Amino acid sequence: MRTTLQGTTIVLGVTGSIAAYKAGTLARLLVKEEARVRVVLTKAGARFVTAHTFAPLAGGRVYDEMFEEPPPSRPVHLDIPDGADAVLVAPASADFIGRLAAGLGDDLLASVCLAAVCPLLIAPAMHHQMWANRIVQHNVARLVSFGVRVVGPARGELAGRDQGQGRMSEPEDIVAALRTVIVGEQTA
Ligand SMILES: Cc1cc2nc3c(=O)[nH]c(=O)nc-3n(C[C@H](O)[C@H](O)[C@H](O)COP(=O)(O)O)c2cc1C
Repeated sequence: MRTTLQGTTIVLGVTGSIAAYKAGTLARLLVKEEARVRVVLTKAGARFVTAHTFAPLAGGRVYDEMFEEPPPSRPVHLDIPDGADAVLVAPASADFIGRLAAGLGDDLLASVCLAAVCPLLIAPAMHHQMWANRIVQHNVARLVSFGVRVVGPARGELAGRDQGQGRMSEPEDIVAALRTVIVGEQTA
């Protein structure tokens, strides 16, 4: 029976939130558990962290482009989730949550999420007023109704020193949630 993430493949999606800096710690924790990590950055995510943050942890390869040149024989949005044990989007921006809830595949990460047949987890991160927005809450509820697991967000200090619920959960807590989902599903 599996009790750790050892030997699993985790696709880590990083979107455009200030909390993207915590995704580096998250990737490091996953690698420490001997998971293979495949990182996908959105265009906005790449404004906060770069491929260089993740390449040493992700086997040198970080994905940020749907239309690769030269074109690979299997499109990357199908290749990346192949054989993955989970897709984890952390941080998940309000924008990304909305696009996913609408079923859009308008960038690489959104298409990866739509193509994945493994568990999908999101760790939202945004200002508390965005998190409280009924449109965002509606989108999250819609994702939950489709089986997407939502980790957090936590309460606490936010960017700009505001306080409230919207802080991305701590990387350790996200890894614990991932472990529960993967270990739980394999022993069910
Ligand atoms: C400094 C800065 C911080 C931001 N932080 C967040 C955030 O924490 N959460 C969020 O949902 N959007 C945040 N945004 C807005 C997103 O970056 C924007 O909606 C972007 O389109 C998200 O794109 P993506 O979902 O494709 O990554 C921030 C924007 C800026 C300029």
